[in-house]
Amino acid sequence: MPNVTFQSPLLHKNVTVYAVAGDTSSILAVADAHKIPIPHDCRDGECGSCLIEVVTLSGKTMGSALTEKEKAQLKSLGKITADEIRLAEVDDIAPKYRLACQYVVRDQDILVKFTGEPGGA
Ligand code: FES
Repeated sequence: MPNVTFQSPLLHKNVTVYAVAGDTSSILAVADAHKIPIPHDCRDGECGSCLIEVVTLSGKTMGSALTEKEKAQLKSLGKITADEIRLAEVDDIAPKYRLACQYVVRDQDILVKFTGEPGGA
């Protein structure tokens, strides 16, 4: 079972939770279930307020699939390049920034950072 560790100035200390690999829950849903206050609005990849930074702690550094909405939103926020999109899609290498409502947990331990400001990562 993968560990998801949340780190934010809004939290007194890092919070690590166990997630179910293969589940279709987004990081935002995992955060909600554990009362982790990642900012969000649309929950549909369109507002960018749930921007997070993801660091792989163990396991292969792999990206979960980028949705078209996520790619478009990350591009408009200036948080992903065409090269990073290609690496994610061709080589399964995770980009640094993601949208918590679009990122599905995979079988890897990750650190999720967020500032608490909508779209602030
Ligand atoms: Fe709007 Fe994730 S909540 S993009």
